[in-house]
Amino acid sequence: MVEFRLPRESEPEAGRRWPAPEGARRPRTFRIYRYDPEAGGRPRIDTYVVDLDDCGPMVLDALIKIKNEIDPSLTFRRSCREGVCGSCSMNIGGENTLACTRAIRDVPGEEVTIYPLPHMRVIKDLVVDLNTFFEQYESIEPWLKTHTPPPDRERLQSPEERARLDGLWECILCACCSTACPSYWWNGDRYLGPAILLQAYRWIADSRDEATGERLDQLEDPYKLYRCHTIFNCTQTCPKGLNPAKAIAEIKKAIAEREL
Ligand code: SF4
Ligand code: SF4
Ligand code: FES
Repeated sequence: MVEFRLPRESEPEAGRRWPAPEGARRPRTFRIYRYDPEAGGRPRIDTYVVDLDDCGPMVLDALIKIKNEIDPSLTFRRSCREGVCGSCSMNIGGENTLACTRAIRDVPGEEVTIYPLPHMRVIKDLVVDLNTFFEQYESIEPWLKTHTPPPDRERLQSPEERARLDGLWECILCACCSTACPSYWWNGDRYLGPAILLQAYRWIADSRDEATGERLDQLEDPYKLYRCHTIFNCTQTCPKGLNPAKAIAEIKKAIAEREL
């Protein structure tokens, strides 16, 4: 079997350890990936012991506590704290998910391991570079496109037409799915990946949009769309319970049907 190893300079080394606070009644250990390009050197894994009796229930609560009370240099993104902004995506206990909606008690194992999203360039600690991801999002032109003159009021949809957007509009662009996708790992510069393809399908499925043909033309490409090999990592990991693999299959089906 082929064995892949990180280059030595990318392999994390053991870092600092902060012990449990005095009198802690429910200590739990968090092992967190740290990397500061300005400081140089290898990444490291720092260890923090937090008293869960003095901490909120979510992994994000623990990260905020560590940053506020133990180590202000710890860097991560977050905003809404409600699973709607997509900022706090990271790899927790081996799974890509949102720190604000993952309960500490649901993380398996003795220790809570926290890494940045996999296969992305690390800017600092748990913050990864999402520039290419959002350029890919821009490339699918994620807005309503019409050719007919605007009506006097809104462009209406029947309840059935609106229902076709369920399972699509809820995507918060957290990138958990794309960074769990092996095809995106190897071809992330040319394959759009599950998140962006689900977003593309959100507009294809919209009865008010009048650019379906152009959208399918844009996607009919061996790399942008057809690098999906239906491995389903994306659907398994989505913290919003969405099914990007199905959306990708629907795009392929729409392309096949128009060619019949
Ligand atoms: S499909 Fe799910 S995992 Fe992927 S970006 Fe959207 S919300 Fe995140
Ligand atoms: S189903 Fe497609 S998009 Fe989802 S993880 Fe597999 S290859 Fe990637
Ligand atoms: S902080 Fe917004 S999704 Fe977690």
